[in-house]
Formats: sequence, structure tokens, C-alpha cells
Amino acid sequence: MQKIRILTGITTTGTPHLGNYVGAIRPAIAASRAAGVESFYFLADYHALVKCDDPARVQRSTLEIAASWLACGLDPEKVYFYRQSDIPEIPELTWLLTCVTAKGLLNRAHAYKAANDANRVSGEDADAGITAGLYMYPVLMAADILIFNANRVPVGRDQVQHIEMARDIGQRFNHIYGGDYFVLPEAVIEDNVATLPGLDGRKMSKSYNNTIPLWLPEKELRKAILGIVTNSLTPGEAKNPDDSNIFAIYQAFASADETTAMRQDFAAGIGWGDAKQKLFERVNAELAPMREKYEALIDKPGDIEDALLAGAKKARELAQPFIARLRAAAGLRSLRDALVPASETMARAQKPALQPVVFREADAFAFKVLDAKKTVLATQGGFADPKAAMAAARAAMETLV
Ligand code: TRP
Repeated sequence: MQKIRILTGITTTGTPHLGNYVGAIRPAIAASRAAGVESFYFLADYHALVKCDDPARVQRSTLEIAASWLACGLDPEKVYFYRQSDIPEIPELTWLLTCVTAKGLLNRAHAYKAANDANRVSGEDADAGITAGLYMYPVLMAADILIFNANRVPVGRDQVQHIEMARDIGQRFNHIYGGDYFVLPEAVIEDNVATLPGLDGRKMSKSYNNTIPLWLPEKELRKAILGIVTNSLTPGEAKNPDDSNIFAIYQAFASADETTAMRQDFAAGIGWGDAKQKLFERVNAELAPMREKYEALIDKPGDIEDALLAGAKKARELAQPFIARLRAAAGLRSLRDALVPASETMARAQKPALQPVVFREADAFAFKVLDAKKTVLATQGGFADPKAAMAAARAAMETLV
């Protein structure tokens, strides 16, 4: 039976924090152990360059993220675990996809549009400070996914549009080159994994500067947890677990029974100091054994390098034959391969374009598509306005060519 392929990339610009662990690392590793799936986890270091021009940070982050996933129990023998920039087929595919991607599609990407809007608000040129890398980001991401024909891509809501674009782009390639080259991926939105509140109560996120790093030494972890904001209820006063950051984080680590017990403690008026101490102990109990592994791993960057290179080798066994097929589909072929006669390729190049015509009917608009000899290849009426008729004509032409 064909296994379901699950694929996720992690951008290598930061240090993993508790929110990453609960929201991404822990559920992904659990999912990788399920039967019937093949998992692909990779360090998206090409994507990192879009956001970060500090080489030391990109390298450091690559080491820390790789060591974190391994320390948390990812088994590189059972999954594909690799670094994006070790797979040359990814940038190669990026170019093939770039050439079938509508520029207008990229104009509509949320991240690009947000940067445009911010520029307009501050009276700058719309594209001020925006690199072509930011603009092309969705195409690189489509290549990450399509090169391995992933079926499912677990992502946060902010990334859903990118998966839709990957589908569009893959479909476009399939259509132009007339084959089922790419599987169309689906976004999987992780709704039942916790999003942790950060130190200030907002969602824990690097961009809010409110994170608790995952691998703080025990003492510092305790200090960080003691610094989480709470309300000013005193010991003895009953507290509402459901509006408490302390409880929310506790729940993400505790069993159902432990969570029930903590609820009772809240109702009984546990003091914030005691609640934080319990939270620290629970979090630390889960992290301590992994922290030890992490520290051993991080001391041997060469071993992690070897693991990533081995992962890339395994992944390229899939990517290399596939890119060869895709190159051939687009015409990047050996001259020893069967050639189409010149007479035929000339005729194809000269094939005159189809012509869309919009016209008025009794109480609506209609279109027809004509070929060079003015033969009607398609026609349809009943459109409310000429614009809708023209759009339908163009869509019909897509299916004719
Ligand atoms: N853009 C993703 C993020 O910022 C990271 C990423 C890169 C990714 N390539 C991917 C995620 C492919 C899923 C699939 O979170």
C-alpha cells in the first residue's frame, strides 16, 4: 500500500522555544511513529535567507533545531530528516515552477501584500526593501513540497495560502506538460494542539519577544516560569483556570488526571508562587531527559552534520530520478533522445493563437472562442456582464490549448 507522505519545513532563523515544542516538534514526532505514513522533516535554510542575513545565526539555528528534533526523539532512520540546501533538486525545481507560475499569483501572497501595505502606509515606494526572495518564497516552498509529492503538510493558519499556491502551481505544471507529475498537497491545520501563551500572556512567539527557550538550564527555566504574568489574586482566593496562562501551559504538559487535580487546586485558591512551582516541576520532568540528550548532541556538531548528510542522501534517492523526469517533460532533454521533426516543431510554434470574442445576447452576454480559420471551438451565453464572459472565454481557452 502506498504510504501517506507528510512533510514539514522549519525555517532556521531562531532558537526553539516551548511553544515550538508543544505546537510543532512534539506532535510531529508522535505523527512520525504512526503506521502507514512516511514523514519528511527538513531544515528550511534557503527560506531562512529571506528573513535573515546573519550567516552565524542561520548556521547556529540549523544546529540547534536539528539537535532539538533529535533530542526529542525523532528517529532519522525511520523518517527523512534533511537540510533543504543539501538537496540541489529543490532549487532546480524552483526554476521549473517559476516558469509556470503566474506573477499575479505571487502578487496576491499575504506576506508580500503585507510588506507592500506597510510601505504604502509609511509613504514609501510599494516595493521598498522587498527582495525578490520574499516575492519568490511561495515558489520555493511549492518546490519543497512537490519534489517529494507530499500528500499532507501540517502548518499553522498563516501558511495555508502557501499550500494552496503549491497546489495551483503543481496543477499548472501538470496541465502544461500534460501529465500527472505532481500530487496536489493538502494543508493540515493542527487545531487540537495547544498554542502556548508566552511570558506576557500573548501567544508565545519569537516576534513578540515573550518566549521561554526550550533548553534553558533548570534554574533558568524556573526563573522564566516565575516571571510569567498572572493577575493579582492572593493565596486563598479561588482562581479561574480557564483564563490563566499558568494553567494553559500546565495543561499542555500534564496528563488528564494531573490537569483535574490542578483545576481543584485553582478552585481551592492555590497561590501563584505555588502554582508556578508546580508548573516548573511538571515541565522540567518532561524536558530534563531530553535536555541531557540535547546537550550531548550539541557538543558534537560533526555528528549532526553527518546525520543531515545521510538524510539528504536518502531524500535525493527520491528527488534525483523525479527531477530527471520533470526536466525531460519540460524539454531539457538529451539530444540523443527521440527528436520531434523540425517541420512539426515549426508548425507548433506558428500555431496561431485562439481568439476570444464577447458579444451581447438578448438580455445577457456570451463568448465564443475562434481558431485561425474563424471556426468556433467553444461558445456559451448567460453571463451578467462582459467581464464575466471574457473570464469564462479565457478559462475555456486554457482547456483547448
Ligand atoms: N514557510 C514555513 C514557515 O515559515 C516553513 C517552510 C518552508 C515549510 N518550506 C516548507 C513548511 C514546506 C511546510 C512545507 O513556517
